Order: sequence, then structure tokens, then C-alpha cells
Amino acid sequence: MIIAVDGPTASGKGTIAKALAAHFGLPHLDTGLLYRAVGRQVFLDGGNPDDGGDALAATSFPEALLSDPELRSEVTGGLASRVSVHPSVRAALLERQQAFAGQPGGAVLDGRDIATVIAPHADAKLFVTASVAARAQRRWLEMKSRGEDVAREAIEADLAARDERDRNRAEAPLRQAEGAELLDTSALPPQAAIAAAIALVEKQL
Ligand code: C5P
Repeated sequence: MIIAVDGPTASGKGTIAKALAAHFGLPHLDTGLLYRAVGRQVFLDGGNPDDGGDALAATSFPEALLSDPELRSEVTGGLASRVSVHPSVRAALLERQQAFAGQPGGAVLDGRDIATVIAPHADAKLFVTASVAARAQRRWLEMKSRGEDVAREAIEADLAARDERDRNRAEAPLRQAEGAELLDTSALPPQAAIAAAIALVEKQL
């Protein structure tokens, strides 16, 4: 069984994908982490994330980079969004994601293009979204709890810019796939969002 979870940043898709994996007893891949690793590697190499060649070279990042806490930062998220527009980068990460999806028993993958490109034949597809204001508020609380003091307006502007880039790129833009169920988490606490997600997956099985 393959479950595809797509949506913009801070929509709750990561929390939901993790909970679905636990509920259905499946392995989980956060595909954003792969793009974040490429973004981080470009930075470490002193390359330009907007240059396709530099970004492609960074796709051979060492595996240990995937557990670097720096991958979670907003700065790395921005770099990830910039390297992910290059078709060569997306192609280089495709096989790894499809192999994960194709393992016996199935898997849960979350990202931007799981239901549209990576696993269009997934058994269940969710498109998780939330208003920019709700997502900025979550991100702000998360950063505050880590002791980072950032203005909420700056976070909101950054999220909007990232959405714009992810939705309007030529290659694998963020969009709700055909047959994907929409889940708006703007007004839902995490447990309610998870319960709704489980119900929407079961409906598709
Ligand atoms: O989900 P996360 O915020 O970790 O993703 C970081 C960036 O990686 C996104 O803004 C997006 O540009 C890119 N990404 C992508 N395709 C995916 C997952 C992430 O383009 N499947």
C-alpha cells in the first residue's frame, strides 16, 4: 500500500505522514529532506543554488548529511526550494524515491510531487493545506520554542515566496493531483488533523 501526502511547507503534512505510517505500519520518507540535503550541500560547496550544474553536483551528498540538524532550518528550506526547480536535480532524486515507494508492503511518502510524479498510482493520495497565516503561526511557535526570535511577518513573507516558487515552477509544480483528497488543517489541532487523514485514507482503500 502506497500513501502519497503532498502539500506546502508547515501545512502539517509531515506530522500527518508520520502518524499515517505508524497507524498503517508502513515505513515513511520525508522527501523534502532530500532536497534540503542538496540545498545544504550546495552551500557547503560554496556553489550557487540557482545554477543547475552546482545543484546537480550536490545531489551526491554524503548519507550522514541527512541527520544534520541544520537541514531543518528556514535558511536550508529556502535553499532546498531553489535547488528543487532544476529538472536535473529532480531526476537525480527520482529513483531513490520510487525505490522507497516500491518496497514490498508499501510506504508513506510526503513532499510536493508524490501523487503527481513519484507515485501517481498510489493507493491513497492526500493534499494537505492550510492558510498562510495558520502556517506562519505554527512555524513561528516552532521557532520560538527553539529560542529563535523571528518576526511573524517575515515568516509569512518567506512562506508566501516559497509557495509561489513551488507552485509556479515548470517542473513538477506543487498542485493537488487528480483523485487526491483535500485536507485543510488551518483550524485543526494535530490530533484532529491526523484522525481526519486516517479517515480520508481509509475512504480511498
Ligand atoms: O517539505 P520541505 O519544506 O522540507 O521541502 C523543502 C523544499 O524542497 C520545498 O520548498 C520544495 O521546493 C522542495 N521539495 C520538492 N519536492 C518534494 C519535496 C520538497 O520540490 N517532493
